[in-house]
Amino acid sequence: MNFTGAHILSINQFQRQDVDRVFAVADQMEPYALRKRVTRVLEGAILGNMFFEASTRTRVSFGSAFNLLGGEVRETAGFENSALVKGESLQDTARVLSGFSDVICMRHPQEGSVADFASASRVPVLNGGDGANEHPTQALLDLYTIRQEIAARGQTIDGLKIAMIGDLRHGRTVHSLSKLLSLYNNVQVILISPEELTLPEAIVEQMRSAGVQVTISHELTNSIVDVDIVYSTRIQEERFSTKEEADLYRGKFRLNQAIYTEFCQPNTVIMHPLPRDSRADANELDSDLDNNPNLAIFRQADNGVLVRMALFALVLDVADKVDEFSYDVRWYNSRQV
Ligand code: NCD
Repeated sequence: MNFTGAHILSINQFQRQDVDRVFAVADQMEPYALRKRVTRVLEGAILGNMFFEASTRTRVSFGSAFNLLGGEVRETAGFENSALVKGESLQDTARVLSGFSDVICMRHPQEGSVADFASASRVPVLNGGDGANEHPTQALLDLYTIRQEIAARGQTIDGLKIAMIGDLRHGRTVHSLSKLLSLYNNVQVILISPEELTLPEAIVEQMRSAGVQVTISHELTNSIVDVDIVYSTRIQEERFSTKEEADLYRGKFRLNQAIYTEFCQPNTVIMHPLPRDSRADANELDSDLDNNPNLAIFRQADNGVLVRMALFALVLDVADKVDEFSYDVRWYNSRQV
């Protein structure tokens, strides 16, 4: 794939060597993300960060990633603050905003909306989540994290065994991650969900035809006994027609330290795209796991900055100039103490 000027809309655009490229650039971003060095490589560039659906880490990590490369961020959050409430089409919004920005990130509740927007944009558009469809940058940061976590024990993504748990029907992070895992060899995926919330058949088919061994389960404990990774997800309440319907599924597959100790391998890595739903009736990842060294959820969120920096550097074609425009930080850095 030619990254320069490209929209990043779906994991279907990626081949294995493209993922390697993103990860190699993300590795190079570490001194900047850890505030050891500063780079101004994107000085003068503007990111239009357009979030029409709730977001904390995706929105802020896109913005931080751009700032860390020296660029400026202009942000719109919520329909109520945008001209979309006045009936403007996504394509007109794109025509206008792409005149103000060098790159645009967008999240929107409708499937296909970001691609629709991108079709009228004059600058690259990165999909920050389009309804229940895809969340490609999350999948890249998830896989980057998986690679990092299992490398410590000499494993690679080839041969990975992962359980994905929760609302697999509406969860765009698991949709994109499933597609991404299809690029690797000897991968085993166990899909654990309520019967009504299974992973869309087309994605299961995509994985199977790529050679992934897929098992479908509706039960947690016996399905996580032999996996490298448990990837838990939240019931996507906002995708159900009523809260009552979402309530039917909430709290069905809870992982806590007692279950982990009894059923998981001692080094199974625990992941979640976040936010975990910490309300008592949900609580899919109990806070009693917080001291478990295999809980990777906050390392995973941190990696979002590295991977998003890499994507910006690639689509704006500065990946090989990041160090040239850099210097040491001047301020007190608590991360290095
Ligand atoms: C996810 C999302 O928005 O799809 N969050 C995120 O971006 N890390 C998962 C979720 O909201 O459950």
